[in-house]
Amino acid sequence: MNLRAQVAGCGAYLPNRVLTNDELARRLDTSDDWIRQRTGIGERRIAAEGELTSDLAVAAARRALERAGMNGSDLDMIVLATATPDHTFPATATKVQAQLGMKRGAAFDIQAVCSGFIFALATANNAIRLGQARTAVVIGAETFSRILDWEDRGTCVLFGDGAGALVLNGVPDTGPGSRGVLSTHLHSDGRLYDILYVDGGPSTTGTTGHLRMEGREVFRLAVTMITEVVADVLKAADLRVDDVDWFIPHQANKRIIDGSAHKLGIPADKIVMTLDRHGNTSAASVPLALCDAVADRRVKRGDLLLLEAMGGGFTWGAVLLRW
Ligand code: ACO
Repeated sequence: MNLRAQVAGCGAYLPNRVLTNDELARRLDTSDDWIRQRTGIGERRIAAEGELTSDLAVAAARRALERAGMNGSDLDMIVLATATPDHTFPATATKVQAQLGMKRGAAFDIQAVCSGFIFALATANNAIRLGQARTAVVIGAETFSRILDWEDRGTCVLFGDGAGALVLNGVPDTGPGSRGVLSTHLHSDGRLYDILYVDGGPSTTGTTGHLRMEGREVFRLAVTMITEVVADVLKAADLRVDDVDWFIPHQANKRIIDGSAHKLGIPADKIVMTLDRHGNTSAASVPLALCDAVADRRVKRGDLLLLEAMGGGFTWGAVLLRW
């Protein structure tokens, strides 16, 4: 019997501290107007001192487990997408595993920067399809505030902290009409390593470093990459763009999202947007946006969801999921 991953629950966590554009404008040569117009961002959350990526991840995972009516001991896999781990090693996922009370199976991190959640979801789905796991939690959790150069107005205004999680169960695959992950597509192109990177690391400088980005170049590539991978993921499931109920994109920039949606023919009222409140939370942005639309009941059982992301590496990917 073929299996596929079906979502049993989702959970989100955002730190309490809100950092507004106006506050940033008091420290830097920028303005609320510039940030909103160029990016769509109004405010972002910042983790408290001592609040770690693992803390955000555990909070989101606990909420997802609660919605699924499960607890940590039901899990046999944790896949945590993060570019801001608690330590260089071990994997932050193992800390999350201990805190959730999961004593079996495997927990590991995935690093694909802003595409991390898409890579993690595809990986967990593959493990479930192969019978390597039956119940998994997939988490995107980031504390990007710790790797920003707060003097660089071109990058520090864009990012925020947060976490989102999905609990997945293996169910029989009964075709495209049934609920669960329908298709996943992943890509990377290492020739673009230098357009978005962190200028530190254990093997280079021995320091953590700060995020560096050629924003215009990232922008230029993003729409093409997103539209191509979305076409692939739909084709693989033999579905069309009109079949999609909700477009849940990585929240990097409103102009990128609108440009991709326009090129794909997705109307504005099918796009889930959280940029205004969350900023770009990297690997956490897709599950945070999904949980937002589930919490306010926009997303309903049986809806077809199109998830996509692009990020450093360069990496990009998409997942088609029936809720
Ligand atoms: N406030 C005011 N002015 C600013 C700011 C700011 N916060 N940041 C840059 N500027 C200035 C620049 O200095 C420049 O001034 P100049 O003309 O005097 O030199 C001017 O604004 C235009 O700069 P650009 O970089 O050309 O502005 P652009 O319209 O491209 O917007 C932005 C910049 C928002 C970064 C855009 O390029 C973008 O969103 N790129 C994509 C970034 C992205 O999505 N990154 C995340 C990828 S996911 C991941 O993996 C992390």
